[in-house]
Amino acid sequence: MVKICCIGAGYVGGPTMAVIALKCPDIEVAVVDISVPRIDAWNSDKLPIYEPGLEDIVKQCRGKNLFFSTDVEKHVREADIVFVSVNTPTKTTGLGAGKAADLTYWESAARMIADVSVSDKIVVEKSTVPVKTAEAIEKILMHNSKGIKFQILSNPEFLAEGTAIADLFNPDRVLIGGRETPEGFKAVQTLKEVYANWVPVDQIITTNLWSAELSKLAANAFLAQRISSVNAMSALCESTGADVTQVSYAVGTDSRIGSKFLNASVGFGGSCFQKDILNLVYICQCNGLPEVAEYWKQVIKINDYQKNRFVNRIVSSMFNTVSNKKVAILGFAFKKDTGDTRETPAIDVCKGLLGDKALISIYDPQVTEKQIMRDLAMKKFDWDHPLHLQPMSPTTVKQVSVTWDAYAATKDAHAVCILTEWDEFKSLDYQKIFDNMQKPAFIFDGRNIMNVNKLREIGFIVYSIGKPLDPWLKDMPAFV
Ligand code: NAD
Ligand code: UDX
Repeated sequence: MVKICCIGAGYVGGPTMAVIALKCPDIEVAVVDISVPRIDAWNSDKLPIYEPGLEDIVKQCRGKNLFFSTDVEKHVREADIVFVSVNTPTKTTGLGAGKAADLTYWESAARMIADVSVSDKIVVEKSTVPVKTAEAIEKILMHNSKGIKFQILSNPEFLAEGTAIADLFNPDRVLIGGRETPEGFKAVQTLKEVYANWVPVDQIITTNLWSAELSKLAANAFLAQRISSVNAMSALCESTGADVTQVSYAVGTDSRIGSKFLNASVGFGGSCFQKDILNLVYICQCNGLPEVAEYWKQVIKINDYQKNRFVNRIVSSMFNTVSNKKVAILGFAFKKDTGDTRETPAIDVCKGLLGDKALISIYDPQVTEKQIMRDLAMKKFDWDHPLHLQPMSPTTVKQVSVTWDAYAATKDAHAVCILTEWDEFKSLDYQKIFDNMQKPAFIFDGRNIMNVNKLREIGFIVYSIGKPLDPWLKDMPAFV
């Protein structure tokens, strides 16, 4: 029986390995982590991450060919293939701070693999890493290997949160990069055979190591660039009376452009886009390509602009002050169908409103009060720009409340801000919400999920990103 061990039981390691275990009953999969609470949760009824479809798979495989453990060394030692899926956040101090990927966790995992191994292994980069990381990892493994042979593969993950299981079941492609040597080709073939249990072989792309590593950063940069492009257009739409939804549709029907990923929003969030573009920017700078670095930086600058623009629109619409006004926040996760709040635009929007002394009342179906308070209390690292950076002071904490009900959040509020596109927000009773709010009652839809005309009929003053402006908003001084 082939044995796989995955180091890192997070948003990628957990779902990816659960699907491998489900699709490959002949493979024994161990997912290991240094975090005891995380592993305990994987072994409990309440998994540490919310992902549609995940629970069923874990229940089917756990204890049969899928195991979650903190005994990292034992499982690494026994494995034939070791995936490394540890976090690779942006460095916050030292050389490259604010841009470069922090490979501390990766390096310590590599050193541990070298220390505990007693047999040859394939080591798979699952984490998103800077191009050429495999070379550094190879050096660590080879220098400590006591004669054991390691083959390094790059197998970046393209799943998106909220649809992880569907993405893993039906990936557009699986990418495997390896050394172009006989041993390298053999290792690529071994991993290819694992995926071939459910992925058509013509969708398994094989490349050299550096192409695979760079393709992951490039794919995320291209995706984020589409969002920043449409968000830039949304600002122009508001100034001209065009409707960004119509523009996106018209543009996206060109088969060369395609319709996906053209939804204007309050800004993209998530643990990957900003981090990976900053990493790309840093790599370009290190390779003497400042113009290329500047080009990609703009994608993040527009994203920050969009978040700021949203806050400014709220404040300017409400007579230029939200001080002591209750503002309901519907949605805190960075997208629907996840409880993940990493880099969620909600953090920046809430901090912006708190800075203007609003009283905010937050409701999200999946994010806990503890998580929200932790996110708002955290000092955000400034990569390049002064964006609402202050941590919450004890007095600011009193301005925040978290509820488990959208109606409680919106009661007596002056404004409602929709920051995550949860389906349930579309079917709330907006007449009831309007009746219980202060007047004039505002809705700021940061996800374009609401029927603007229906809300206006009820009596709301509505702002929806990139849509023709409400007559009320047109007359307000423009600070956006
Ligand atoms: P995560 O923070 O959810 O999980 C990483 C886990 O690794 C943590 O539980 C941590 O405790 C563990 N860990 C760190 N060092 C360890 C060590 N030395 N030994 C054992 N465990 C260790 O991160 P994630 O979201 O799963 O992302 C992992 C990687 O995958 C990152 O490089 C990320 O860029 C990439 N990625 C993420 C996504 C996504 O949607 N989240 C998608 C594609 C790629
Ligand atoms: C992303 C990539 O899609 C995935 O391939 C990679 O493996 C990890 O990073 P993820 O961050 O989980 O996945 O979610 P994604 O669906 O890409 O959304 C990222 C952010 O962009 C979210 O905040 C989302 O709301 C926003 N978004 C997405 C838009 O604002 N408009 C869109 O049209 C699409």
